[in-house]
Amino acid sequence: MKEILIADTTLRDGEQTPGVNFNTREKVRIALQLAKWGVDSIEAGFPIASEGDAEAVKAIAETVKGPVITALCRARKNDIDRAYEALKGAKKRAVHIFLATSPIHMQYKLKKNEAEILEQISEHIAYAAKYFDEVEFSPEDASRSNVEFLQQSVQAAVDAGAKIINITDTVGYSNPFEFRNLMKTLVKGTKHTENVIFSTHCHNDLGMAVANSLSAISAGATRIEGTINGIGERAGNASLEEVATALEIRKEFFDVKTNINLVETKATSDLVALYTGIPIPKNKAVVGGNAYSHESGIHQDGVLKNPETYEIINPNLVGVTTNSLPLGKLSGKHAFSEKLIELGYSLTNEEIDVAFKKFKALADKKKEVADSDIRAIVEGQMAADKYEYELKELQLTYNSLGHQQAEIVVIKNDADKITRKGDGAGSVQAIYNAIDDIFNQQTELLDYSIESVTTGIDSQAEVRVLVRNNQTNNQFDGIGIDFDVLQASAFAYLEAKIKVERDNKLGGAHKRSYQDYND
Ligand code: KIV
Ligand code: ZN
Repeated sequence: MKEILIADTTLRDGEQTPGVNFNTREKVRIALQLAKWGVDSIEAGFPIASEGDAEAVKAIAETVKGPVITALCRARKNDIDRAYEALKGAKKRAVHIFLATSPIHMQYKLKKNEAEILEQISEHIAYAAKYFDEVEFSPEDASRSNVEFLQQSVQAAVDAGAKIINITDTVGYSNPFEFRNLMKTLVKGTKHTENVIFSTHCHNDLGMAVANSLSAISAGATRIEGTINGIGERAGNASLEEVATALEIRKEFFDVKTNINLVETKATSDLVALYTGIPIPKNKAVVGGNAYSHESGIHQDGVLKNPETYEIINPNLVGVTTNSLPLGKLSGKHAFSEKLIELGYSLTNEEIDVAFKKFKALADKKKEVADSDIRAIVEGQMAADKYEYELKELQLTYNSLGHQQAEIVVIKNDADKITRKGDGAGSVQAIYNAIDDIFNQQTELLDYSIESVTTGIDSQAEVRVLVRNNQTNNQFDGIGIDFDVLQASAFAYLEAKIKVERDNKLGGAHKRSYQDYND
């Protein structure tokens, strides 16, 4: 069976999702989980874009073992040098160079003709090949490029030393028939490709990113680039959890295998949802909440008789389990520690003590503490040391006639106690006005949503907010998880405001995507 490489770009293209900003700790955490899931490569960032990106690429290169760690670059020597520096600590590293080849991009964005583009490709791929064993080249907007010129660009990259040719559907314009043909033309028409891998990078503007990626396999592609939960620019990228599961479920049809450890799929998807602040839609393939529920009586009857009547994926295969051994208030530290191991966490004794205390406090309020509750506790704890402000107290005065008051106490840098009052038509507005008063910022709350972490009346609330920093136009999310909805609302908003403060300190420089850097 042919092997299909799974190349993840959640931390680079995925981070280009509006409102998504990972810090270094979150990036490393996700990268470690991606390695556990079994991806073959991780695109860790775009080092020239900012100090923050370079630092995250470096941290991932030094920490995450297994997958190839990749950094994105324009076809520019400075970018390649910066990528080289950031990737020094990686055992296996690669550089990913992109340059647009479509008429519209060349004319309006790059203002370059075909000859200039070919020269830029040859010069920079050759330069990168001196420093990296693995050089990936993406002709940006390949699906809207003139096919003959695209072929010349791909040939120039291969001749200069590119080992991966990543065919992009940058604007999600293609369809499976067309994309397969395009891949076939390039695979067949390019010379000296014995050691070259053909890859796909498809966007989802017309909802065909996964289908387009899979269609390219029968044309000779052996690598699929995409993101977890399909996050990314605009409508996002090909969802890798869907790609990997489809290749497993239909392996006879595709006649391929991957290195993905499918049982880690749900945990990987949940982690990305938690850190992006983008919940997984209930009807999402493979990982959505409804993917294994059966509503109609006929379906339920069939599934009870034989699950395969209506279920093509066994939920256990992708790590979707009903809580086998739920913990409760009588559970001891030993059972709790075992559960942490089962969920894939390896914490120090001190960290377990802190988490156990939080678990006990929650178990006093809830009958059964689900795996997702425990994940929320641990992830929240791992994130807890990263912020300059900590919410200490929250008091509310509720008035049924509609004028609510809130008082909050926040500790800054473990030292200064800040007390603020706010009022509003609703309790959340009163809390948010009090928090606004701490910061000297111009922000706008773009989105506020609540979901329950588990089902039932005693579930924890997960509040997500999206805030725009009007000074830099960047957007930031905040997540708060608590048994109390108002407390969770306060946590979420405070987190977003802290991110805005950091953004202002950096002058808005840390969230830049490759589009801001086109020559
Ligand atoms: O969509 C795209 O073309 C990209 C390139 C940088 C590979 O993300
Ligand atoms: Zn992309």
